[in-house]
Amino acid sequence: MKRLAIFASGTGSNAKRLIDYFSGNKDISVVLLVSNRKEAGALEIARKAGIPAINFTKEEFYNSSTVLEKLIAEKIDFIVLAGFLIRVPDNILKAYENKIINIHPALLPDFGGKGMYGLNVHKAVIESGKSESGITIHLVNEHYDEGRILFQAKCPVLENDTAEMLAARVQELEHNYFPEAVERFIKEKTEG
Ligand code: GAR
Repeated sequence: MKRLAIFASGTGSNAKRLIDYFSGNKDISVVLLVSNRKEAGALEIARKAGIPAINFTKEEFYNSSTVLEKLIAEKIDFIVLAGFLIRVPDNILKAYENKIINIHPALLPDFGGKGMYGLNVHKAVIESGKSESGITIHLVNEHYDEGRILFQAKCPVLENDTAEMLAARVQELEHNYFPEAVERFIKEKTEG
């Protein structure tokens, strides 16, 4: 059984999809939700599903080994970032090399990097005049949004789209594809 921790900062709609998808799965189990914001909706979603959910301050993330120790104590095999909006600290990146998966609400390598999260991303896509956007599911390394791409899916950017309208279209792709992409990656990695 592979044990997953989800890291989430926000509403948690992707965390919910992952929790629901893996519930009852015999090979992969979501066993922990970690947040950097105590008011994150994702914490409540996990607790309702009976999954331990904890939050840490930025200070604890970056200047202590508390979070890493918790991951090790819980025997976490893989980490999934589902709207985790701060950088993953170096000690965790090192301990979980090629075992951290992120979802980004645009087609990387464009529209990634610092500050590119949430509606900022969709505003930038609309301002660029591109006719397509989408999602990128990728491995996380020390360079923001630059790890190996595992999966992408596209949707159109429509004339007169607002950032909110585009966000809703992109989020539908996220909910449809994220859990399966996570499962596929873990199976490939586990079965070689
Ligand atoms: C998702 O759209 C995810 O792609 C994005 O945050 C949102 C979280 O929504 N992540 C980033 O922007 C990472 N740079 P959720 O809390 O409803 O899952």
